[in-house]
Amino acid sequence: MSKSTETGLAELQDLEPSLEEFRASVVEGLSGPEKTLPCKFLYDRHGSRLFDDICNLPEYYPTRTERQILERYAHDIADIVGSKARLVEFGSGAGIKIRLLLKALDRPAAYLPVDISREHLVAASADLAKMFSDLCIAPVCADYTAPFALPELSGVTWDATAGFFPGSTIGNFTRAEAVGFLTGTRALLGSGAVMIVGVDLVKDVDVLRAAYDDGAGVTANFNLNLLRRINRELGGTFELGRFHHEARWNAKLERIEMHLVSLCEQEVIVGTKRFGFSEGEAIHTENSHKYSVEGFRALARDAGWEPLEVWMDERKLFSVHALRTS
Ligand SMILES: C[S@@+](CC[C@H](N)C(=O)[O-])C[C@H]1O[C@@H](n2cnc3c(N)ncnc32)[C@H](O)[C@@H]1O
Repeated sequence: MSKSTETGLAELQDLEPSLEEFRASVVEGLSGPEKTLPCKFLYDRHGSRLFDDICNLPEYYPTRTERQILERYAHDIADIVGSKARLVEFGSGAGIKIRLLLKALDRPAAYLPVDISREHLVAASADLAKMFSDLCIAPVCADYTAPFALPELSGVTWDATAGFFPGSTIGNFTRAEAVGFLTGTRALLGSGAVMIVGVDLVKDVDVLRAAYDDGAGVTANFNLNLLRRINRELGGTFELGRFHHEARWNAKLERIEMHLVSLCEQEVIVGTKRFGFSEGEAIHTENSHKYSVEGFRALARDAGWEPLEVWMDERKLFSVHALRTS
């Protein structure tokens, strides 16, 4: 592990998915009877910036509500995590929420942000290194849905390990995928580890729909950016004006779905492949599952985690769970 001399920032461990993986996922997703694209590819440099803008929208209650919970209960969370902890954050994004925990923790030993969006991760890690100059920060660019190893931290010792998975990003998985992910993190973090997970709660459908289809059109732009990325990186011919962003509530599966709906009959080329669209045909780009507190605790148990505490805001919009390996 090579480190900057002025801060504890280590060199990036770069396991970014290749262009070939991106191409194969897009071709596979657009070839099925119901067209889909994996939501992890929404996050290129531009997509990550758009997501940061979403976090500041009045309709997008999850970010500000989770921050309030983390601010209010940071010391309770720090007590559960323990002193001299090695922290691994999954989908760390702009690295804002971790600051609340780092300030409350007793002598944190190391912070390992894991994110698929490489440039955003590098910039966020550099910002954090300026604020916490004594902390060992070891960024990992990786797809956390595939197995990966954490970097060795030479010269660093720790007494506890904690995972941090805020933003209700766990809601992007189906229930079965979420159980698989949490089972994998148990193995990655090791026995005795704690996991702090932000989970969005089931609520009024109009509040949910507005959060994923804001008045300023930022979420629409975020969703459409995936087509822009395919055009740029894979030689696609999507005309963005011919697709429309839609946020749908799937009551049976208790999730918001984001779709890109074709406004006309059309054909799109990606590299050497042609894909036909009928008018009204949709590409399903993201799921955001919503849970009850008990529903999520049962899911965590199915993945081998023992639920400890749960913290919520007064309106019970959002929850933050502490889990321990059982
Ligand atoms: C909903 S945002 C949440 C960002 C931040 N944690 C927060 O709470 O505001 C999801 C984050 O996870 C990252 N991400 C999404 N899918 C990923 C994957 N499969 N592997 C690694 N990172 C991923 C995105 O780049 C993004 O930073």
